[in-house]
Amino acid sequence: MKEIKIAPSILSADFSKMGEEVISLEKAGADIIHCDVMDGVFVNNITFGIKMVEDLRKITTLPLDCHLMIVNPEKYVERFAKAGADIITVHYEACKEGLKDTLALIKNCGVKCGAVINPDTPVEKIKDVIPMCDMVLVMSVFPGFGGQKFIPEALDKLREVKAIIEACGKDIDLQIDGGVGEGNVAAVKEAGANVIVAGSAVFKSVDRAATISALKA
Ligand code: DX5
Ligand code: ZN
Repeated sequence: MKEIKIAPSILSADFSKMGEEVISLEKAGADIIHCDVMDGVFVNNITFGIKMVEDLRKITTLPLDCHLMIVNPEKYVERFAKAGADIITVHYEACKEGLKDTLALIKNCGVKCGAVINPDTPVEKIKDVIPMCDMVLVMSVFPGFGGQKFIPEALDKLREVKAIIEACGKDIDLQIDGGVGEGNVAAVKEAGANVIVAGSAVFKSVDRAATISALKA
């Protein structure tokens, strides 16, 4: 079984003190920092971009996982890579037929790549590109906001992606994002996820370290 990694989403952080927030996550045992980049077009919310990644790169050695919820991600992947992203994930819904080329572009920048599907996109749409991914992200909420309710149909999609990963025999991470907390983390792991994004579950807790280790255990 692959190692379980916890990736707190800084979408739920206090943006006025982002550096301190990331250092606190690092001290609390986070494995990865999940950076939700939103453009107000692909999703109905706006967060931050390249400059945030560049500045966070200076203060943490944890992998920066950039989840791009933006249109035309191919225009920006090179700059996110230069800014210090360790992995860049792009949505099928933002790339459509261009997904394969965008993933290849990310790889060419020397960064890990991942494909993401929304709750209403079937696994079939990314089946062919899974073997070239370092990670596959199954969304368990519609992207845009933290604190939403987990959509249980994501569990079947995790199983479906996991079967494809196993069949191709490559070392590919399977990430779940949206509405994951202590109440359902066992179910997502059982369904095959090994990289667990948690926004509100970590940021709303009084003891971040205890929550991260509970999610990991
Ligand atoms: C949703 C984001 C998620 C979200 C997770 O658009 O991609 O990363 O912040 O937050 P929670 O864990 O609160 O659902
Ligand atoms: Zn995310």
